[in-house]
Amino acid sequence: MNNIKKIAVLTSGGDAPGMNSAIRAVVYSAHHFGIEVVGILRGYEGLIDWETISLGLNEVRNINNQGGTILYTSRSERFLHLEYRKQAAENLKANNIDAVVAIGGDGTLRGAIDFQEEGIKVVCIPGTIDRDVACSEYTLGFDTAANTATEAIDKIRDSSVSHGRCSVVEVMGRKRGYIALWAGMATSADAIILPEKWNGDFDSVIDAIKQRHADGRDSYLVVVAEGVTDAPELAEMIREKTGIESRVSVLGYIQRGGNPTAKDRMYGSLMGAYAVEILSNGKTNRIVAIKNDVLVDYDMGEALRLENNKLDSFQYELSLRLSE
Ligand code: F6P
Repeated sequence: MNNIKKIAVLTSGGDAPGMNSAIRAVVYSAHHFGIEVVGILRGYEGLIDWETISLGLNEVRNINNQGGTILYTSRSERFLHLEYRKQAAENLKANNIDAVVAIGGDGTLRGAIDFQEEGIKVVCIPGTIDRDVACSEYTLGFDTAANTATEAIDKIRDSSVSHGRCSVVEVMGRKRGYIALWAGMATSADAIILPEKWNGDFDSVIDAIKQRHADGRDSYLVVVAEGVTDAPELAEMIREKTGIESRVSVLGYIQRGGNPTAKDRMYGSLMGAYAVEILSNGKTNRIVAIKNDVLVDYDMGEALRLENNKLDSFQYELSLRLSE
């Protein structure tokens, strides 16, 4: 039974292209169901300090193509503590908010799970460029980030080829190597180093480059996910052990920004609308996810235990084969 009259929407954790499409779809769908929407600024921080804006159709009309998040974001340390979650819950109750739509990554989901203990209804939408939310095959922002990284690496490669150098490119992804895997495969990297697979075997990377050198190649590309190893150290090791001039490029935050691709706009729209749909059907404490390319939703606690989003083993094996 639907007794939802007023909802809040927030974005939390690292911003990701497509978050704005999700916000827009939440507002449009809520409008369709006659639900009022309040935008919470700066993620969970704004819930604690009650920093809000009213969100009507006019506020979200021209945001589908914008990177970042119009609601701003944060990684809230305070929300990890019960006293601040209680304060946030009191703010919501005092303002007659029936439910919260939280868009973000793993940290956002964990925050939402703790928050439901304060009697707050939450629905989460997975939004993070890392594609590392266990229950969902897709997270908003990944496609844009992988394309941005690919475009940047293509440019780096032009220079690398011209100089006959080895380029070591560090991309984002602390625990999941999807950006490295996709951008690395798309740019035909000679070695792709992923957090899930890295065993500290620098020699295999050096040997791969030596082999290519022996085959007559004179430029090389190594794509490494952040958190695996220190990229400048790796470049120095390649230079020392092969004699090949090596350079490092750390792509950094350009991967998080920029206009979302059609995929991120579409999935943002679908997930935002779906979140409101399940709320209006009386479901709460759910996370929206993609399974077999279809929208589904899971209980938030159960979502943490699911392991759908392990690195795809065929994609990984193929990355090895295509860089032999
Ligand atoms: O949002 C995910 C991510 O971009 C990771 O890839 C990266 O490790 C991290 O966020 C960086 O976080 P921060 O914005 O706090 O520096």
